[in-house]
Amino acid sequence: MAQEALAREVVPPEEAACTADLAARLKSKIIRDNAGGLMRRDAHPKMHGVVKAEFIVEPDLPPELAVGLFSGPATYEAWIRFSNQNGTMQPDLNRDIRGMAIKLMGVPGLKLLEGEEQEQTQDFILISTNVFVTRDVKQFDGLIRALTGSLWAKAVFFATHWRVIRNLWRSMRRFANPMQIRYWSTTPYLLGTRAVKYSALPVVSQPDPLPDPAGDDFLREAMVRQLAAGEVRFDFAVQLQTDAVSMPIEDPGTAWSEVASPFRKVATVRVLPQAFDSEAQRAFGENLSYTPWHCLPAHRPLGGINRARKVVYRAISMFRHECNGAPRREPSSWDF
Ligand code: HEM
Repeated sequence: MAQEALAREVVPPEEAACTADLAARLKSKIIRDNAGGLMRRDAHPKMHGVVKAEFIVEPDLPPELAVGLFSGPATYEAWIRFSNQNGTMQPDLNRDIRGMAIKLMGVPGLKLLEGEEQEQTQDFILISTNVFVTRDVKQFDGLIRALTGSLWAKAVFFATHWRVIRNLWRSMRRFANPMQIRYWSTTPYLLGTRAVKYSALPVVSQPDPLPDPAGDDFLREAMVRQLAAGEVRFDFAVQLQTDAVSMPIEDPGTAWSEVASPFRKVATVRVLPQAFDSEAQRAFGENLSYTPWHCLPAHRPLGGINRARKVVYRAISMFRHECNGAPRREPSSWDF
């Protein structure tokens, strides 16, 4: 495979229309789901905690990894928001995908999101599975149409999209502690001129068992307990794309082989020992806005799903802040 084909994006003609349709559908969905109450995120509305962390770049990275943010040793302050994916505030025992959204602060340089170029934040958004549910924006829009449509619409969609069922089946799991899960970006990003995916690997000596009996919010309780006892670490790693066909840019529903290209550590995430579970900190987390496009050009999001997220995250975040009468601003320190 020619080297030039690596990191190459191909934009399907219908993508812009599907993205606009998706944004409109998700806006109607949150209006329906949150009638009269706080306007929450469409995805990942249930937060287990937003916590203070350090993101410590590894010294002496090899040239192919020492790019952008990773070009030299540095330590950034960060806010990490742990969440459930489901659109409702359901009990934690339900099978689900979990989220880890990392926001670094004090990152110099112009960012890619239009209107927010001057912000000093760089976000990394990860989930507890290595495959996203759909191949592209058209398929994701179809999924949302089906899920918000009739029983017949759901039946037709799932009968014709077996891989969506397989990816969901693999991804929806029970977990005992959000800080003991491995997370992946599933979508690719530039690393200079190469493409990479991200993963955060927890450093765990003794994993927690699932609680029995399990309260509705045991994931938050596990975090409270663990951070009262000490710090938590993750290795933050990147996986280089080495083959354009078996490691596609335009299909995050396909995992890239870790045998062909293993994840390589580029930073340590150190979650500080802390008490985080206050009303004020919960409100702060609710009002944060994560997007893959809060990022340096050296780490530009790649592929159709990421291109759609540029439009949809901003639209939904602006709408919910407006409804909630909350100012929409990027944090610049651990103070809130
Ligand atoms: C076209 C595909 C996607 C759409 C339309 C979508 C939509 C959304 C929306 C609207 C939000 C809330 C934004 C806000 O109000 O601030 C969100 C949050 C989130 N999404 Fe996606 N998403 C997509 C793909 C993905 C992918 C591929 C991942 C994998 C990492 C992901 C992980 C997350 C996570 C973890 C959050 C919560 C961030 C936080 O803690 O605030 N999403 N998504």
